[in-house]
This record gives sequence, structure tokens and C-alpha cells, in this order.
Amino acid sequence: MTQTPKDTPPKDTTPASTDAGQPGAGGLRKGLTNYGDLGFSLFLRKAFIKGSGYTDSALDRPVIGIADTGSAYNPCHGNMPQLLDAVKRGIMLAGGLPMPFPTISVHESFAAPTSMYLRNLMSMDTEEMIRAQPMDAVVLIGGCDKTVPAQLMGAASAGVPAIQLVTGAMLTGSHRSERVGACTDCRRYWGKFRAGEIDAEETADVNNQLVASVGTCSVMGTASTMACLAEAMGMSLPGSATPPAVTADRIRMAELTGARAVAMAKERLTIDRILTPAAFENAMRVLLAIGGSTNGIVHLAAIAGRMGLDIDMQALDRMGRETPVLLDLKPSGQHYMEDFHKAGGMATLLRELKPLLRLDALTVTGRTLGEEIEAAGPGFRQAVVRTIADPIYPQGGIAVLGGNLAPGGAIIKQSAADAKLMEHEGRVVVFEDSQDLVDRIDTDDLDVQADDILVLRNIGPKGAPGMPEAGYIPIPRKLARAGVKDMVRISDGRMSGTAFGTVVLHVTPEAAVGGPLALVRTGDRIRLSVSRRELSLLVPDEELARRRAASPVVEPSAPRGYLKLFLQTVTQADQGVDFDFLRAPETRGKTPE
Ligand code: FES
Repeated sequence: MTQTPKDTPPKDTTPASTDAGQPGAGGLRKGLTNYGDLGFSLFLRKAFIKGSGYTDSALDRPVIGIADTGSAYNPCHGNMPQLLDAVKRGIMLAGGLPMPFPTISVHESFAAPTSMYLRNLMSMDTEEMIRAQPMDAVVLIGGCDKTVPAQLMGAASAGVPAIQLVTGAMLTGSHRSERVGACTDCRRYWGKFRAGEIDAEETADVNNQLVASVGTCSVMGTASTMACLAEAMGMSLPGSATPPAVTADRIRMAELTGARAVAMAKERLTIDRILTPAAFENAMRVLLAIGGSTNGIVHLAAIAGRMGLDIDMQALDRMGRETPVLLDLKPSGQHYMEDFHKAGGMATLLRELKPLLRLDALTVTGRTLGEEIEAAGPGFRQAVVRTIADPIYPQGGIAVLGGNLAPGGAIIKQSAADAKLMEHEGRVVVFEDSQDLVDRIDTDDLDVQADDILVLRNIGPKGAPGMPEAGYIPIPRKLARAGVKDMVRISDGRMSGTAFGTVVLHVTPEAAVGGPLALVRTGDRIRLSVSRRELSLLVPDEELARRRAASPVVEPSAPRGYLKLFLQTVTQADQGVDFDFLRAPETRGKTPE
């Protein structure tokens, strides 16, 4: 029989039933499986976990769950093993017990029909596993576009102390001496191929270079946007948004995150103290100032909804008029995430944006955002974050549109649009759905001119389903070959944050539930005026009423499974495309207040 080593800490002799399963019970005593005898439940739980070789002393520490989203299908999380090691090290150095657990992981290119279809499922998985398993705090490791919002949505509903760690951006590659990175350059090179400017061989060459390492997309796509918003909201450590995935800075940040989670558990710094209206206001401000992904709005609306808050879209638009784009990153600018990190990361941006921020918002550090900005010290000369006096774009990256075509609103990423098309009236060419687009967009007999407006419908939350990133309608091949680079494009879908162009998105309500977009016919005229925030279908009301009566709406449905749940309960873009039953039961108000 093995001797107990002399330095083994004394056994936990606390009677198992003292506080087991009671409200406020912590560590392994939390949330006991119900067998009708809580003392026995704890006895059994400890017996099983000891099968893994844990001592009583280890099991008596604060338990820190770690949401592990590593997956062979998710190269954006390819550094998960290193991050897990470092988070665990941080937790143990701070006196906690790390308990990694798997959840769903979703990658943009490996999720059909679209990753957004699975975001809510991942949020439910995250929420329920945080609830079901004993943990005093949780470290959420996510990165690829939908994973961070899913984790924040789930943690917001679960209510325990939570801290976000992102996997970090990939490195940039080099193609024939030109620096390239996913995925703005993916689209640019694919556009060149479609226009016949490069051949298949060069296309294959650049395919090897666009993703130079594991990690998330290297431009201001949704992953980078959510990393920055998580830090702006106070949900991740200061300085943690920007270290690239494969750097020592990223690993150090993981260790620090683990250690901080233990302190949060001891302080009972729950997520409701951080995700306040002030936090969302800061996130909205930063979203505008970084030229962030339009998807960021949908995700913020979903996270806010879990806290009983509605995002005030009109306020977002007002904030946009007074918030310049400061971050010179693709697709709005020229740099990549690793450059942003070298330029000081979010501290540099927040320092510049300070007059427009809610400095009293609490962060996971237990200090306010204002205190963290002060603690970051003075800035230094750099070329990635501009000053408010010299922005790369004078207004916020995103404008909120209204009008008879979008009674519930629509958005345009004006910082990535062609200035010449932002005031534009044109003849409409309608595509009924994604398949119709695929079938006709590249045909030589497509009746389309460069100043026409392309409309794609039935790609909204219910229509596709899952609101895919198909709103970036390609320029019809015959126009692309003639040198046309941009056109006004309108849809009820989303667009990747890495894309660019004069693209109107999130038209609400969507066509599939009877929104006015369903009534548009090829040959109609639409007027887009970003300066007036207007998106108008120039068809008389009587004619629209006649069309509506002639084609009654039949909403999509499914006989079973997740798709049935999705189609029955998914909300529109302004509600975050969350399931209605996952929102907080009561709406407390709007954010900003
Ligand atoms: Fe994962 Fe872009 S595909 S972040």
C-alpha cells in the first residue's frame, strides 16, 4: 500500500453536509446533484473526482471552470492547449483549482449553414454547463467570431463571476512580397480572380499565405471586434484583446486571466456588476471608433438582452456622428491586429477616446475603466491609432438607416463604403435568395448596370436560416471584368467584418416574416442617403399594399429538432437574433441610459 507522503496537506474533515448544496455554498459543494441527501451527494462527488487523483486539499480550493473551445475544426482556437496550460497555471498560483470543461466550438468556415445558426446553441451549452457544474468563477476562452458572443451571452445568463480570454489574432503572411491576412485580403484576391486579374496558380499560392498561423482573423473582423469590445466592456483583462495568438504576451495574458479569476471568485465579482448600461455604452463607443464589424451590433444586442437591456439604435447612430474612426486597421484602414498590439493595443485607443467613455464602469480587475486607463500610463508615438483631431474617418464606422424599406432599421458600415455611392438612387435588381444569387449573378445575360442596386432577400434570421454573412453580394462577373469595384447592395443578412463596400445590412423586419424587402421587384427604384439615414423604396403605398395582398407571407418552419426551435423562437437583428426565451424575463431599460 502506498504511504501518504509526510507533506500531504491535512484531509478536509469538514462534515460533508455542513453547507453542502446550500445557497452560497462554494467550491465543490456548489450545485449538488440531487439524490435527496445533500451530504451523500457531496460524498459521492468527492469520491468520483478523487478517481482522478485529487487530494482533499486541492478539492477545498475555489473551483475555477475553464470553458475549453478547442476543436480540430477550429484553427482560430489552435493555441487552446497552450492557453489552457497557462490559465491553469495562473489559477493554481493564485490558490484555485482549475477545472477545464469542453463546450461547443464554432468556426466560420466549418459551420453549415452558417456559424450564426449555432451561436445560440453554443450560448445555451455554455450557460447550462456553467450552471450545472460546480464553479466559483469561470474563464471563457473563445476567439472565432461567434464564440465570444456565445460565451458572454451564456455567462451573462448564468450569473457567476466570469472573465473572457480571447485566443488572439493570427500572424500576417506574405504573398510575392505583399503582406496579406485573413480575411480582407481573401476577398480582395478572390475578387481579382473573379475579375480575371490573377490566374488559378497565383490564387493557389496566395491561399497558402492568407492564414499564416493559428489564431483569429488578422483584421478588424468580428473576432477582433469582439475581442476589443470584451475589453472595453470590462469583461477581459486590460491589454488582453490584441496580443497575437502565438506570442508570449498572449500566454502571459492567459496566466494572468487565470489568477484574476480566482480573485473574482473570492470577491464574488459577479457578471451583473460588470455588464451594466455603462459597459454597453463603452462597447458601442469603441465599436464605432475601431470601425468594428457590423456583427458587433447584433452580438451586443444579444448580450444586452440577457441582462434585460435593449440597445438603443438611434442612440448608436447619434454616438456615431460624434465618434470618429481612430483605428487604422483593415478593412477600414491599412494595418493588421499585430500592428495594433505593437501600438499599445486597447490602452492606446481608450486613452484617446477617454473624453467619450463612461470611466466609472467596473471591470473584471475590480477597478473602473478610468482607473485602468490611468494605470496604463502615457502613450508613445505610433501610427495605428489616430488622434480625435486627425481620425481616419470623421464619423463612426456604422450608420443606422430608416425609411419605408427598413421600418425596424438597417445599417451600413460607412467607413468601408465608397463615398460616391453613399447618396445614390438606382434601379433595383432583385435576387430571391442565396440560391437565386448563385444561379444568376455571373450569367452573361443578367440585366444589370453599374449604377443599379442589388437586392438579396430571404437571408435574414429566419429566411436562410441563421442570417448568414451573404450580404456581401459579389459584383456581377460581367461588371467586375469591366472594372466595377463597388455597387450599392442591400439585404436582410449580415456581412463579414472583414468585407468592404457600400453594403446595407440587417434590413428589419426581414423578408421571410413579411418585411417590406419582400415587396421589392426588379425594376423598382431605391434611394440610399447615408447623410439623411434614409433607405426608401420609391414605390407608392397603394402598389405596395396590392403586392402584399397578392403574396401572403408563409414563414419558414421545420418539423423537428434544433431547426424547429430556431425558427419558432429566433428574434430579429435589432434583438440580437437571440432566442426569445433566452432573453432576460424582464426588460429593465435601454442602453445607453
Ligand atoms: Fe475565425 Fe475569422 S474565421 S476569426
